[in-house]
Amino acid sequence: MKNIKESYELEKQPSFMQEVAKYNANKDPKAFVLTFGCQQNEADSEKIMGMLETMGYTLTDSENDADLLIVNTCAVREHAELKALSITGQFKHLKEKKPSIVIGICGCMVSQEHRVGDIKNRYPYIDFLFGTSLLPYFPQILRNVIKNPQRQFYNEDLAEKFIAEDIPVHRCDKHKAWVSIMYGCNNFCTYCVVPYVRGRERSRDKNAILAEVRQLAAEGYREITLLGQNVNSYKGGEQGYDFADLLCDICKIEGDFAVRFMTSHPKDATHKLIDVMAKEDKIAKQFHLPLQSGSNAVLQAMNRRYDREKYLSLVSYMREKMPDIGITTDIIVGFPGETEQDFEDTLDMLERVEFDNIYSFVYSKRRGTPAEKMENQIPDEIKKDRMSRLLEKQNEISLRRNRVYEGRCVDILVEGVSKTNANKLTGRTEKGRLVHFDGDASLIGKRVKVKITKAETFMLYGEYGG
Ligand code: 5AD
Ligand code: SF4
Repeated sequence: MKNIKESYELEKQPSFMQEVAKYNANKDPKAFVLTFGCQQNEADSEKIMGMLETMGYTLTDSENDADLLIVNTCAVREHAELKALSITGQFKHLKEKKPSIVIGICGCMVSQEHRVGDIKNRYPYIDFLFGTSLLPYFPQILRNVIKNPQRQFYNEDLAEKFIAEDIPVHRCDKHKAWVSIMYGCNNFCTYCVVPYVRGRERSRDKNAILAEVRQLAAEGYREITLLGQNVNSYKGGEQGYDFADLLCDICKIEGDFAVRFMTSHPKDATHKLIDVMAKEDKIAKQFHLPLQSGSNAVLQAMNRRYDREKYLSLVSYMREKMPDIGITTDIIVGFPGETEQDFEDTLDMLERVEFDNIYSFVYSKRRGTPAEKMENQIPDEIKKDRMSRLLEKQNEISLRRNRVYEGRCVDILVEGVSKTNANKLTGRTEKGRLVHFDGDASLIGKRVKVKITKAETFMLYGEYGG
């Protein structure tokens, strides 16, 4: 078992890829990448898959076919960690059946010291591990793993040092693409593990981002989502070049594509950004703006550095400039010390803002964060009760907002065949609403008009061609 300290050089990675490809020639090995967590993780996995293809692997989506299996993990809540650990636990049988399989684990969960220890001690069938900041060195790591059958753990933190460009990417969707514009986070919200597992904030060079978007537009991608933990604090190098400037430059790129972005932080969302959004046709009129709590006392304890008044004023500026804008948010219930009144303040914000959709989470204690040590942790029954009251309130609001669409015609990007009904297509409106309608698979990837005939809490139903 080795704890590896290597010398890492980005320039050498292509030659490591060649070395592995040579080793794999005539073997036709198969690789399976399993991803947990957020869009940033999905984007990271697409890079791992791109590198794997360059190294001679054929991708498979069945672990039973795989010669190499990689689990990309999440750490944002305990539930995500337990899920990854439980699925990883099942790979023990896979290894027993096929001892030649190589299993690796990476991502946020294993960028925490205590989890490295867990994998070392309790998951002996995992052959190698690498933390988030070592992703650009995956070719080097895999080369070492192939050459040396010992278990290997790469958990150095290189996050401050490099941003890698020119990593091959395997795009999983033919029409929608992720583009990371920055990595890491400096905000240290007191509940959040991200700054510890993804390191300090660093922005990608604006020319590299623009080149990537140009390429995607030329390849015909219809939707490009810019990713970062806090896209509003993007810094493009030149004096004062910010996220709004980047959006303007992206919108100058020719092509029939829509731009989305996530995630925004209310403390850094500017009127300049909202103005650019209102002016540029290419930017989808949808804003994901995590509120987390409607109580000023809780927001302060969370170190969010805005209050409900600032949040409401941003929302009213957005709606003044773009009356039809879709607004979604993240809410945490049961943060330490949250009183019944604090929680009611959150319900009150739901009513005042009328979000189109919310992503709600029960507070989960994260090792090493300030909130872990806070007194007044909320008992599980109260958390559960607040969660169900929150959902009930939002469902009422979502249905109310969806009903407005009945009888209207909407433009949607057709994403695929419905998961629940093979005769129906599914797509999303510009504002991110899910629509089901009858139609032919040839429409997938196209933007079409649909007349909405029925609204439900989470779904609109319509007729093609409306
Ligand atoms: N507990 C519950 N939810 C959390 N989130 C982040 N950390 C935690 C935690 N410890 C939520 C926040 C964030 C979203 C991605 O996950 O709402 O916006
Ligand atoms: Fe976590 Fe806050 Fe950074 Fe978002 S802004 S990743 S919630 S620390």
